[in-house]
Amino acid sequence: MSSIEQTLSIIKPDAVERNLNENIKKFFLKNKLKIVKEKKIQITKEEAAEFYKVHQTKPFYERLCSYLSSGPITVMILEGVNAIQENRKIMGATDPKNAEDGTIRKEYGISIDKNSVHGSDSIENAKKEIEFFFKS
Ligand code: CMP
Repeated sequence: MSSIEQTLSIIKPDAVERNLNENIKKFFLKNKLKIVKEKKIQITKEEAAEFYKVHQTKPFYERLCSYLSSGPITVMILEGVNAIQENRKIMGATDPKNAEDGTIRKEYGISIDKNSVHGSDSIENAKKEIEFFFKS
């Protein structure tokens, strides 16, 4: 079934630092995902810890929170048909080493930590993540 969804996308510090914002946004637009809201911010380590709470038991949690708060990020709400799954396809596998040709992480990802983008992985998390960054 196809339905119009919204998902949260983050351009992570490694990509913002390399001025890849516009290049990455082209991937979304080319794939019919509209950017409905966007802002460039820097978050604290505490905010990163809250955002990535689902990973709190993982061995990489501490590193992940330090990294996401290490520099400016661009957060966006993407909208389109099956936006959550579409965005995950466009991003490619979490580890850029395994990402498919033509995906953002294949093109720009540096490592599993510096993998350039984040995208929500479910309808429930998309709602939570959008609310986290764009409280109305
Ligand atoms: P992201 O999609 O932002 O969600 C959690 C992040 O944790 C993930 O991208 C990776 O950048 C990072 N990460 C670091 N190590 C791992 C790992 N072993 N498995 C999954 N994610 C990892």
